[in-house]
Amino acid sequence: MKILVTGGAGFIGSNFLNLFVPKFPEHTFINFDKLTYAANLLNLKNIDGSSNYIFKQGDLDDYNQVEKIFRQYQPGLIVHFAAESHVDRSILGPAEFIYTNIIGTFNLLEACRNNWDAKEGKLFHHISTDEVYGSLGETGKFKEETRYDPSSPYSASKAASDHLVRSYFKTYNLPVTITNCSNNYGPYQFPEKLIPLMILKALNNQKLPVYGKGENVRDWLYVEDHCEAIWQVVTRGQKGETYNIGGNCELKNIEVVKMICTILAELQGLAPDYYNKLITFVKDRPGHDLRYAIDSKKITKKLGWNPRETFETGLKKTIKWYLDNSDWLNSVQTGEYKKWMKLNYSAN
Ligand code: NAD
Ligand code: DAU
Repeated sequence: MKILVTGGAGFIGSNFLNLFVPKFPEHTFINFDKLTYAANLLNLKNIDGSSNYIFKQGDLDDYNQVEKIFRQYQPGLIVHFAAESHVDRSILGPAEFIYTNIIGTFNLLEACRNNWDAKEGKLFHHISTDEVYGSLGETGKFKEETRYDPSSPYSASKAASDHLVRSYFKTYNLPVTITNCSNNYGPYQFPEKLIPLMILKALNNQKLPVYGKGENVRDWLYVEDHCEAIWQVVTRGQKGETYNIGGNCELKNIEVVKMICTILAELQGLAPDYYNKLITFVKDRPGHDLRYAIDSKKITKKLGWNPRETFETGLKKTIKWYLDNSDWLNSVQTGEYKKWMKLNYSAN
């Protein structure tokens, strides 16, 4: 099978390729990625050169480029990760989110519609987020039937792309599946997201900026568990269906940050509260969703998927990875990164 993976040089896409390219030599994986600030080819150094892996730089926003990839490789399975993914960036500049997340997804769907004459054995798998459902109060969990109620330009653009994907199933009978997942963490995550940002800032002895009172709750999932769930859906999922994926691991942000401080100190032989003094409460994110929690019963019942990693083991592994990969961490702290840090955190 030829598998077109979009956004495979980003965080989740590169974990997916690192797991499955060596495991399935019978499949060819074509990674189509624009290489935005969030991408890093160093993420893929372990599989670069594999005979079943091809990298193509390109932009989903340009239909001609997408069509060319289809003509050249005739993929039968699309695993669509590519997106602008950071909520704070969508607040300060929503345009890219509309282009990539909506137009980019539309272009891919159009390429499938125009190139897949026979739909047998084909699949378009769309990777989405629990943020499309908006915010939960103190109780309840997001189910596949939960009404969409996005809060940020990021989540609104992902909601629009989910609706487009479903409409192609209903209107054109295009074989599709969708997964909506909670917050991921693990190796190769760009240090603008909470966990790697806090690790990097602590290592640099900088303030740890916690939005509001740190009481917002996220449901954390180790990235490899997410990738395994995606593989189950693309190989055994029901066409036209949506599957929610979560870690069953709700934590307040302040709890996560304190755990990072403790583990980091422990791994470096420092006093357990060494980094806690850096925690600083800063201005809240506009439209900040209070709580996310996923009900994963459907994927567990239908496909037998369950997360393997606990948050304690996954977080320790992740922190160790960042400590052991200082070259990677240095490589991402470019001028663009410093500009973003200044832009997003200067008011604090
Ligand atoms: P990321 O920001 O780390 O990576 C995105 C990748 O997409 C980058 O490699 C980038 O170069 C590529 N890309 C961006 N615009 C492109 C374009 N126009 N054409 C081709 N490639 C383009 O994102 P991530 O965290 O790995 O997220 C991957 C997907 O998973 C996204 O769709 C996101 O919405 C979804 N998701 C993420 C999380 C999470 O916690 N990170 C949770 C649930 C769902
Ligand atoms: O829920 C899935 C989503 O999780 C994905 O769809 C997104 O692509 C991904 O970025 C993530 O979105 P969040 O906004 O939840 O993740 P982020 O790491 O940006 O923030 C996690 C929480 O931490 C959130 O409540 C905001 C808070 N936070 C974040 C940053 C960057 C802080 O308190 N301080 C910070 O500096």
